Amino acid sequence: MNHMQRVVIDTDPGTDDALALLMALNSPDLRIEGITTVGGNATLADTTDNALRLVDHVAVGRDVPVAVGAERPAHGSFSHAYHIHGAGGLGVDLPAASIAPHRADAVEFLRDRALAAPGRTAVIALGPLTNVAAALDGRPDVAQAISEILVMGGAVEVSGNVTPHAEFNIYEDPWSANDVFASGVPVTLIGLDVTHKTALHRDGGPRWFEGTSRAALLANRILSNSFRERPDVQEFYLHDPLAVAAAIEPELLTHRRAQVAVETDGEERGQTVASYGDGPVKVALGVDAVRVVEVVRSLISN
Ligand code: RIB
Ligand code: CA
Repeated sequence: MNHMQRVVIDTDPGTDDALALLMALNSPDLRIEGITTVGGNATLADTTDNALRLVDHVAVGRDVPVAVGAERPAHGSFSHAYHIHGAGGLGVDLPAASIAPHRADAVEFLRDRALAAPGRTAVIALGPLTNVAAALDGRPDVAQAISEILVMGGAVEVSGNVTPHAEFNIYEDPWSANDVFASGVPVTLIGLDVTHKTALHRDGGPRWFEGTSRAALLANRILSNSFRERPDVQEFYLHDPLAVAAAIEPELLTHRRAQVAVETDGEERGQTVASYGDGPVKVALGVDAVRVVEVVRSLISN
């Protein structure tokens, strides 16, 4: 990429979100306009506190606003994933943040940054799509201004990870996912179809990342703790890191264009159904997994 891509990252940190944020904050190719937090892997209070602590820990002195979003979707059942991400949503302790959340909430922040650079700001969505859908709701000017939404979510040709039909981010708020996919904003859907092909293996540790930077040491702590707390798990899937890597190197993914509809009720709640052909959603179905691991490791190691 020969220019810095302006991005806002909507996230529910979350261990894989944390690695994605470390990559983005270290990337010379991304200009992080800010981070918006959403409930998902953990409560909004935890995801927001984790985002603030991460930024304060590895981006000392940089202006990276963290704007607070939605605790949960407007309706439907909702659950967290502490059993996967650990206590507090990261599983590791970080010093208390010395920075406070941005004065604007996530919706206002997303709208403001999109309209500040129409056609030049992308959104990287790493959690339930509640904030992103709300920012687009009733605002065609905002939809016009956002260049692309890279969504980590969905399971189109593969089984889900919450139910056999659904991936977590989409399952948590299928209504907002439908709104985003129908918004007309170009969407790249980075689902389990590709993220389950990208992972760091338990045996690769305890130094998955080289160097002694705060980012490298923290990432190694997160993975070490994650594998220690889950002795039956052999791979740490790079769900959210892949979305950031794809923002930097789009050619990592191959895709098919589609209209994507999301089931909102019953057994199939959260199922992402693709009607291939012309459509606003690029469904990622292929990935250069070796290159993804190289990009993840190179951006965090130092
Ligand atoms: O299904 C994986 C996704 O759900 C990742 O974004 C993970 O962080 C959780 O939010
Ligand atoms: Ca996430």
